[in-house]
Amino acid sequence: MLALPLTLRCGMTIPNRIALAAMTNLQSRPDGLLGEDELAWLARRADGGFGMVATCAAYVGLDGKAWPGELGIDRDECLEGLSRLAARLRVPGAIAMVQLFHGGVRADPALTGEPTWSASTWSEDVPGFVPPRAATVDDIARVIDQFAAAAVRAQRAGFQGVELHGAHGYLLSQFLSRTMNPRTDGWGGDVAGRARLLREVLRAVRARVPASFAVGVRLSFEDFGQARGMDLDDNLQVARWLVDDGADFIHASMWDVSRMTAKYPDRHLLPRVRAALPADVAVIAAGKIWTHTEGEAVLAKGADMIALGRAAILNPDWPKLTDDRVVRPPMTRAALNERVVSPLFAAYLTKWKNFVAD
Ligand SMILES: Cc1cc2nc3c(=O)[nH]c(=O)nc-3n(C[C@H](O)[C@H](O)[C@H](O)COP(=O)(O)O)c2cc1C
Repeated sequence: MLALPLTLRCGMTIPNRIALAAMTNLQSRPDGLLGEDELAWLARRADGGFGMVATCAAYVGLDGKAWPGELGIDRDECLEGLSRLAARLRVPGAIAMVQLFHGGVRADPALTGEPTWSASTWSEDVPGFVPPRAATVDDIARVIDQFAAAAVRAQRAGFQGVELHGAHGYLLSQFLSRTMNPRTDGWGGDVAGRARLLREVLRAVRARVPASFAVGVRLSFEDFGQARGMDLDDNLQVARWLVDDGADFIHASMWDVSRMTAKYPDRHLLPRVRAALPADVAVIAAGKIWTHTEGEAVLAKGADMIALGRAAILNPDWPKLTDDRVVRPPMTRAALNERVVSPLFAAYLTKWKNFVAD
């Protein structure tokens, strides 16, 4: 099944069911323009046979930038590099996608030059945490427009689609959160209010790109890491609404596809997501998929496509493997470098326990 093509409801056909998950890699320039190391890292995975290749989370407005060396898609100046990237990824036949992102409270004021903002203001017991200011209606209108403008840039650059980063506790997921978004002005509170920003962003994107351009959304259905205040049933409803608003795919970021849901410990997420959505909307799943056997099992549970993070870093030709003998961590920096992971990206990967060998 993994090797079979997949046609999205926008009409686009992906050559196989194996995606490179969006991965922040710090390899672009300080001003957000494409870095050559970022291009080389992604091109290597496209050459390795990944049917769909997503960029890292790319910021749609400077106030949403969260990492140094993060790719930008916030202004037309980015188009030259983005166009080169899209053209290069398409050479071996990969579907080229940009992940559109705003960090909200996770943006870095040292990079953006301004305080963070989010759905509301709150405090966290984390060293250095600075409470965000609560969004004004102008902030909300501006960011919707920035996501739409960024999608238009992606399309003009030659990308075939975008993934809205609605997962992992960044801006769109902060608005979805039961705990971070108690707003009473229609942009928070109940699930309809909390979903409104993500829905309006998707609708604005859809309105400004051709019908053949793929638009999907990545979601954290349940709490993990910085994604907090997530509720499985709320998010199944949100996914259904996103389909009404024009999503071609829903990408479930699961961190571990073998786990049952936290809310219903005898139930797995994927059959529930699959059952909630129409058959022509693709479900993508990611989280600790290492082997083809594991990938096939994820498809059997209801996903239409898998996305790989860490396995794709260590195995750039993963789609071409003919058995389950994958390379696993830890890996030395020299071996990472052979796999077109620059020293800067390798240094970032030391944040993942036991991934980089010292
Ligand atoms: C280095 C690194 C950077 C990541 N950056 C992003 C990102 O920019 N956007 C995103 O949605 N997820 C990001 N993730 C999460 C991955 O897309 C993926 O969902 C996660 O790593 C689980 O899959 P895996 O077990 O195959 O690695 C990142 C993960 C890693 C390891």
